[in-house]
Parts: sequence; C-alpha cells; structure tokens
Amino acid sequence: MTPVILETKNLTKEFKGFTAVNDVNLKVQRGHIHALIGPNGAGKTTCFNLLTKFLIPTSGQILFNGKDITADKPAQIARQGVIRSFQISAVFPHLTVLQNVRIGLQRKLGTSFHFWKSEQTLNQLNDRAMQLLAEVGLTEFADTVTVDLPYGRKRALEIATTLGMEPELMLLDEPTQGMGHEDVHLVTELIKKVSAGRTILMVEHNMSVVSGICDKISVLQRGAILAEGTYAEVSKNPQVMEAYMGTSAAELQGAH
Ligand SMILES: Nc1ncnc2c1ncn2[C@@H]1O[C@H](COP(=O)(O)OP(=O)(O)OP(=O)(O)O)[C@@H](O)[C@H]1O
Ligand SMILES: [Mg+2]
Repeated sequence: MTPVILETKNLTKEFKGFTAVNDVNLKVQRGHIHALIGPNGAGKTTCFNLLTKFLIPTSGQILFNGKDITADKPAQIARQGVIRSFQISAVFPHLTVLQNVRIGLQRKLGTSFHFWKSEQTLNQLNDRAMQLLAEVGLTEFADTVTVDLPYGRKRALEIATTLGMEPELMLLDEPTQGMGHEDVHLVTELIKKVSAGRTILMVEHNMSVVSGICDKISVLQRGAILAEGTYAEVSKNPQVMEAYMGTSAAELQGAH
C-alpha cells in the first residue's frame, strides 16, 4: 500500500467561467487526519463534491490508492471505501438510535428478500450495530428515539452509520459546525478515536479542532492551495495570516 491514499492532480472546477477549484494537487497520506481549511468561498465544499463525484471536474484527475477514479460514479466511490459522512447519515428522526445504525448496515449489505428471513443475520446485524454504537460512545442511547438525542450525540450517530460503511477514507465537511463548546470537544475526541486505522479528510473552520487533531493542513484560497503543512507551519505562514485577515485572524491565533 502506498503511503498516499488520495491524490488529486491539477483538479479544476469551473462554473460558467468562474474557477471554484483551481489546479489543486492534494496528497492525503494514509492514516492522517488531514484538514482542508480556507476562508468562506475558498472552494472546500466544491473540492469535496468533486472527490465524491457529486460534481464532475472540468479537468484534472483523482487517484484513490493509486487508481484513477476520476470517471467513477458516486456509488462506486463509496463501495471502494471513500465515504462522506452526511451522504449516508440521513437519519430517521423517529426511529431509535440502534434502528438507524441497523438501517445503515442493511443498506450496505443490500436487500435480497431471503436475506431478511434469516434470524441469524438479523442478530448479526444487531451485534454489529451495538458494536458501532459502543465505538462512538452511544451504547446507553441505543433505545433513545433519535430526535431526542442531544446535538453532539446526533453527530456521533452519523459517525457510527458512516463507520458501518467501512470507510477507508472518511470525508467530513465541517463536523463541528454550529456546536457549542462541549459538543465540539465530544466530536473532536470522537474523530480522533475513530481515525485509528483509517484516514480522515475534513473541512473545518474551528482552528482549535484543527490544531488539536490534524496531522496535516491544506489551506485553500480562491480555489487554489495557498499553503500546506502542520498547524504550526501554516499558522505562522504570512500568506495564510493575510488570507485570514479579519475575524478569522483572531481565530487562528486564538488556537495557540
Ligand atoms: N453550483 C455552483 N455554481 C456556481 N458557483 C458555485 C457553485 N458552487 C459553488 N460555487 C462558487 O464557488 C466558490 C467556492 O464555493 P464552496 O462552497 O466550495 O466554498 P467553501 O470553501 O466550501 O466555502 P464555505 O466556507 O462558505 O463553506 C464560491 O464562490 C461559490 O459561490
Ligand atoms: Mg463549504
């Protein structure tokens, strides 16, 4: 296995003449938590949409484990182990937490009619679902109706359903968005925990999350990579500091 799990080569996306992603060469190393950061409108979500095939690149290539996946369909990407969290985490609010995880697992296994007849299979599914809940600290919430879960725990449930898809590379777009301090802490710790044996690429605005758990950071600005390195490296890069001028400059420094 190569140390690089995901690579983009000159990845570019134009919308009617506007270049949202511009010649991006990204290398994500196996085992890393890699953050994609940058000011609003920098092209982070568009990048994710290209990686998961929600959007077709104008030009450039995407390689996963050395294989060109540029022309693959979203479902093919997912089957190969590139899983974006919200993609499969459309949870059913009025089902229990356990039921939601089980549905995710059922979807992954496919649904042949005979499959459902086997009680043994259903028990295996339950066991696996409980295992996943344990992994994200939701054991005690297994029978809670999802709508009653605290916000941070809902994100944990999404992560559990994502793990059920057996991701080799997990893509998380702003996993701590809209959360209070405690939930941010909970979800950050959880991401760190589930990163063991996996690779995570995440878009994240919260610099204390980025500095706390990310091995490598790529900074996007106006669609292009402005800087790359560890948090210590990019946070003292003058160009990055300039790109973050204004409110976010305080954020960058506040994370120290
Ligand atoms: N479908 C589209 N058509 C036209 N322009 C688009 C489209 N999607 C995104 N853009 C533009 O591309 C640029 C990058 O958007 P993108 O959503 O990728 O930024 P982002 O880095 O995720 O920003 P944020 O931090 O606000 O989430 C923006 O200027 C946006 O307006
Ligand atoms: Mg975005």
